[in-house]
Amino acid sequence: MKATIKLPADIETMRVAGRLASEVLDFITPYVKPGVTTGELDKLCHDYMVDVQHTTPAPLNYAPSGYKPYPKSICTSVNHQVCHGIPGDRVLKNGDTVNLDITVIHDGHHGDTSRMFFVGTPSVQAKRLVEITYECMWRGIRKVKPGAHLGDIGHAIQQHAEKSGFSVVREFCGHGIGRNFHDDPQVLHYGSPGTLAKLVPGMLFTIEPMINAGRRDIRELGDGWTIVTRDHSLSAQWEHTILVTDTGYEVMTLSAGTPPPPAEV
Ligand code: MF3
Ligand code: CO
Ligand code: CO
Repeated sequence: MKATIKLPADIETMRVAGRLASEVLDFITPYVKPGVTTGELDKLCHDYMVDVQHTTPAPLNYAPSGYKPYPKSICTSVNHQVCHGIPGDRVLKNGDTVNLDITVIHDGHHGDTSRMFFVGTPSVQAKRLVEITYECMWRGIRKVKPGAHLGDIGHAIQQHAEKSGFSVVREFCGHGIGRNFHDDPQVLHYGSPGTLAKLVPGMLFTIEPMINAGRRDIRELGDGWTIVTRDHSLSAQWEHTILVTDTGYEVMTLSAGTPPPPAEV
């Protein structure tokens, strides 16, 4: 069993990094409209991070082993793209859904958060998938407290997704975060209560379920990064960075524009 806390992170610095990541999403929100390209969204976010926040976009040139360096500063995953969509010339059009995933480095610490956006007016199915996925993330977050297990989080997410007729992507998971972008533990978005590592105060990790309207199977595009659903069904994802506190959890990726927790949780 791996150590539960690997890299001590300064909690207050992580709080600032988390807020800054969320503020990039606040900043970009009014630009997510029909006619904008994902590349334009990337450039706007890049310049805001570097010139206004004085943060570093963590994705840019990020190269985990087995991957070529990621070429852009944010991830833009449209419709059936599950995650890690590379910004480019694609023009967003009415009815599209897009996940914008922002990771900033502030004073050596990472803040990682993503939200879903509707471009113009969504279909009934897209709206439901995005809402249920948001509820899934929050059901996972609500499980976080000392003594709970990582499996409790995954179970809560999987139950809600599957009872809604959707499926959970298995190949990507939440992750420990701090001075490293991706660290232990892995936070699976499926599983069984009472299994896997026990949570202890001070742990920092993301919860970022990827939920598909159709089957859970995915594949990687030829660009080496973009993940899509095999059956071309819609996919949605939301992400927060979470701290385990003495009594429960603290959401680290909060800002003025953070959507409120869902009424149903
Ligand atoms: N932000 C993503 C996550 O939530 C990781 C993106 S890696 C990148 O873990 F290189 F694609 F940016
Ligand atoms: Co993440
Ligand atoms: Co992310």
